[in-house]
This record gives sequence, C-alpha cells and structure tokens, in this order.
Amino acid sequence: MGLLIKNGDIVTADSRYTADILCEGEIISRIDRDITPPPGTEVIDATGKYVFPGFIDPHTHIYLPFMGTYSKDTYETASRAALVGGTTTIFDMCCPSRSQEPMEGFEAWNEHSAGHSACDYSYHMGVTRFDAASEAQLREIVARGVQSFKIFLAYKGAFGIDDTELYRTLKLAKELGVVVCAHCENETLVTERQKELLAAGVTGTEGHYLSRPPEVEAEGVHHLMTFAGLTGARTYIVHLSCIEALREAAAARLRGVNVAVETLIQYLLLDRTYAEKPGFEGAKYVMSPPLRDASNQAVLWDALRSGLVQTVATDHAPFDFETQKPMGRDDFTKIPNGIPSLEERVNLLYTHGVCTGRLDLQTFVAVASTNAAKQFGLFPRKGAIQPGADADLVVYDPAYRGTLSKATQTHAVDYNAFEGWEILGRPSVVTLRGQIAARDGKFVGTPGRGRFLERPRDAGRPV
Ligand code: URP
Ligand code: ZN
Ligand code: ZN
Repeated sequence: MGLLIKNGDIVTADSRYTADILCEGEIISRIDRDITPPPGTEVIDATGKYVFPGFIDPHTHIYLPFMGTYSKDTYETASRAALVGGTTTIFDMCCPSRSQEPMEGFEAWNEHSAGHSACDYSYHMGVTRFDAASEAQLREIVARGVQSFKIFLAYKGAFGIDDTELYRTLKLAKELGVVVCAHCENETLVTERQKELLAAGVTGTEGHYLSRPPEVEAEGVHHLMTFAGLTGARTYIVHLSCIEALREAAAARLRGVNVAVETLIQYLLLDRTYAEKPGFEGAKYVMSPPLRDASNQAVLWDALRSGLVQTVATDHAPFDFETQKPMGRDDFTKIPNGIPSLEERVNLLYTHGVCTGRLDLQTFVAVASTNAAKQFGLFPRKGAIQPGADADLVVYDPAYRGTLSKATQTHAVDYNAFEGWEILGRPSVVTLRGQIAARDGKFVGTPGRGRFLERPRDAGRPV
C-alpha cells in the first residue's frame, strides 16, 4: 500500500514549498500539487504541518561496553525512541575494545542490531588498535560498506590509540577515502588532573569537568588537525563543546584541513551547573567532553548558523541513574559517561533553535539531517525529499505543546536529562521507507525492520 502526504509545508536543507508527496514501495515516487491517490493509498493530511526529511543522528552508542558496564538501551528500545522523536537513521559507534579484533567487534554489533533495530542504521567503525592484523580487517569492513572510522584520543587503555596508530589510521583512511570521526581530548592531561583532584579530596561530580577543562579538548582538536593536515585525511570532530576547541577546528579549516564539526544538543542547552546538582544528581549530566560554562552556548548556536559547525548529534550513551551512575559515587572517574537524548534531539533543536529564531528552518534540516547524509555518503537516499529518495519523512506538528519526561519517554534509561522541559512541536507522523513507524509520540512501526545501510565508496563529501 502506498502513502500520500497531502498539503504539507515541505522543508529541506535548501527549499520550502507546499506540495503532495507520493510514496510507493520504499521510496518517494512523485512530488506535485494535487496528486490523486492511487487505489489503496493511505492519505495523510499534512495541512498546517511541516514535512521534513527523516532526521539523522550521526553519533550514538546503543550497544556499548564501557567503564565496566553496558549502555542501557538495546537496538529495540533505542530505535523506537529514535523514530518517535523523528530520527529515522542512526550512526552507532562500533567500538571493540583494544584486545578485540575489529571483525569480532563488527560482528558483535551486527548481532545486536540486525533484526532488532526498527530504524535504519550504519556504523562508524572504531579503530581502537592499529596493527597489521587490524588493518586487514578494517579494509574488509570498509569493503562491506562502512565508510567511516571512529577514533578516541581519550580513554587510553580502553578505546584510545597512540600517535603512531593515529598517523597510520589517518593514512589508511586517506587511501580508502574513509572519513575519520574523532573524540578529541588529551588523555595525559585528563589522567594527571584526575589524580591531582582525587588526591586533593575532590571525589564528587564536579571533579569530572575540573579534570577536563576546555584546554584539554582544544589540545585534542589541535593534535588531530596537525595529523589530518599532514596526511590529507578527511576528518570529523565529534561532540565539540567549547569555543577553545572550535577555534582550533576553524583555524585548521581555514588553512585547508579537511574537517567537519559536530556538536551535541546537550552542549547547546545544558551547562556545567547541571553536573553540580547536589545529592549525586549531577551524575546524570556527566559526559565527555563535559558540559561547559553557559557562555559557550551562544558561540555554538552562531557556529551552526554560520556553517562552522555542520551537525547536531546526541552521543546517546544511556546509563541508569539508580544502578549504573553510582559506580562513581565516591570517585567521579568511575561514573559511566553519557547523557541520553536520542528521542529528544529534534524536538529540542526545533524548540530552542527554530522557535527562538536562532536557526531558520532550512538550517535546522541541514544540521539535523542533510549534512550528516552528505558527510557520510547517504545523500540523496537519506536527508532529502525528492523522487527516488527513501520515503523517510517527518510530518511535524508545530502546534503541539508538551513536556519531556521519564514517565513518557520511549528509551530505556531510568531518567530524562530534560525532565520537565517544554517542547513546542513534535512529529505527528514518521515514515521509514514508506511505512508509518511513529504517530503522535508512539512507536507504531515494525520491530526489526531497520536496515543496515551499506555506503558506497567515495559517496561522502565534505560539508
Ligand atoms: O560521555 C560520553 N561522550 N560517552 C560516550 C562515549 C564517548 O566518548 O563518546
Ligand atoms: Zn566521545
Ligand atoms: Zn560518543
């Protein structure tokens, strides 16, 4: 059965117009005024609503063995949450430990995702060790359609790589045309400061951000940019949080380094005072890089507007407040890092970006969908509304008023970092490849229907 979305205010990254969209099979087959529905077609009236391309979250951790525990969501729960919130495609970080073979990690991730995810997905392949054996497997994984790597300059001993491995990973990426996503923090500085703080009796949640000040992130970005410049590799800085790091990325871009920048909805809206909440409540807001001084937020919004930052992700890394965050109750270095927000990202960005006038509608679509599709080789199959594209569509109701809460969320973690926050709009219908997957805050799709998106070689382009 086809779908016809009528009279929507269609908004893409570069256009806005009113028309009908006919979806047949899994794709958009026609866009026109006054399309007569073919027999058996379900008609959705989008009058008074926007129609956006399905949103893309370029950075999640659905399955993540990390800091002695596992992130709380499963592909079942997280993909439902994504769809309810308007996100139809996610990029999960496939992060084997240093002692695991990359192929073993890749297969472990496939076991968790295939047949379980309700939304479409791809991975950024974690390079957590680089030697001859891992290189051969990385080449094979790229040949299977994973055209991006993920590296960590932090978390040494777990995921982090040293400078020789960094250089060789970037050279391989350059050779294969693969983009390298990087967590940029100087690990030595983090470790030394953690030791000093603990020795001085600072064990609480504030110790987390004190151990990772902006200079630590800026040094990580500078470091990566030096290596990227010398190798010519395409790079993508994940979860950039502060002006000091942005300056390093912008300076590198100006001198011709191939780099794109992602920030997170958390950095745009939350600040470090959240991590200071009393009674260990601050642990809900511990992530790396840490939440920053609020003065950074205006800079990040400006950078989205001006194109210095190209994407807004979530880094969705959910850990329960009751049972997992307390691993670090007496030692902030042991608090599992992460702030969940996969379900909330689009509505928060719309509410605090579009409704405040900080972002126009096209920029909103670009940073939450289209730029990620382009950067990672999915455009125009994803991130676009045009004949031939996957029929991933979000019919968005700007008249909706509601409140975010743990009580009504879909993802599986036991708190909501935005508890009580008002949202000024939400998806009323979300389609994934021509099927309705979410309606008015509820998942109504097909569990396990999500598809692994093989990305063709050289399809990605810098944004
Ligand atoms: O705190 C974070 N960001 N947790 C997830 C792992 C990572 O560094 O992206
Ligand atoms: Zn990270
Ligand atoms: Zn991450």
